[in-house]
Amino acid sequence: MTKNEIPTAAHQTFSDADAAIAYIQDIKSPVFVKADGLAAGKGVIPGRTPDEAIKAVQTILVDKAFGAAGNNVVIEEELIGEEASFTVLTDGENCLPFVSSQDHKMSHDGDTGKNTGGMGAYSPAPVITPELHDFVMEQVVHPTISGMSEIGCPFKGVLYVGLMITDDGPKVLEYNCRFGDPEAQVLLPRLKSDLVPLLSACIDGTLDQQTDVEWHDDAAACVIMASGGYPDPYQTGKDIIGLENASEMEGVNVFHAGTALKGENIVTAGGRVLGVTALAKDLKSAIEQSYRGVSAIHFDKAHFRRDIGYRALARS
Ligand code: GLY
Repeated sequence: MTKNEIPTAAHQTFSDADAAIAYIQDIKSPVFVKADGLAAGKGVIPGRTPDEAIKAVQTILVDKAFGAAGNNVVIEEELIGEEASFTVLTDGENCLPFVSSQDHKMSHDGDTGKNTGGMGAYSPAPVITPELHDFVMEQVVHPTISGMSEIGCPFKGVLYVGLMITDDGPKVLEYNCRFGDPEAQVLLPRLKSDLVPLLSACIDGTLDQQTDVEWHDDAAACVIMASGGYPDPYQTGKDIIGLENASEMEGVNVFHAGTALKGENIVTAGGRVLGVTALAKDLKSAIEQSYRGVSAIHFDKAHFRRDIGYRALARS
């Protein structure tokens, strides 16, 4: 990002805990401490005070809470703003942007609690205005794809750019080489065109010929039902009831994430258990319909946020 002048947070990377701690003591301002590897969406720890940040360095670099994913830590300035997820398909040269989406990373209402893989999502995300969309394509997506090509590592496939929309404009928080979860649950139902030819075009280098991709005007919302306690340790094996009732509701699709079959029953088998998703004429209706789906489903200690989409609703 630095080489290609892609906007992102000021940051430094460390493998040595003492050097990381010295840096924190020097800059003093709030930071985020990130494991520099895959940690199931949980490897980012806020360091609002130097003590909190130093503890995070110890958790990642010394205690190895995320294993080898924490061999390096990235210490970044805290960015203030609203997060958005920007997803594109690319054949290594051409890029096809998806409609906008936003997820809710924190475990509890009002974006409190702990960082999770995502407790819900919605699309469109009104924070991504047409102007911001163009900015992100020009200043982030294209430089990323051409920068990868230039270093002899062309990237084809799904590029997910996690953004913070700050007062100084969008800044990159992270990249993932996959769809977001739960963003995929709200993006793919809105895609009217067949996904497979688009993916084939990524492989064949012909994405520029896919000029007639169609999207549903309907909005989508997804509420994650999680096991009580997630992202901390939780119990599994709880019977889930009401799945059929929820799926029969208009526009509702229940995506399974952490479930398993036990005899005839579907039981919980993970932290994020279900993505209860609804398509409806506008965001408010989609959110309401997702929550109707959620209210039809029960399992012991089910946890879900009750405010999915609150920022988007406040804008409308
Ligand atoms: N929802 C965040 C992610 O998929 O990484």
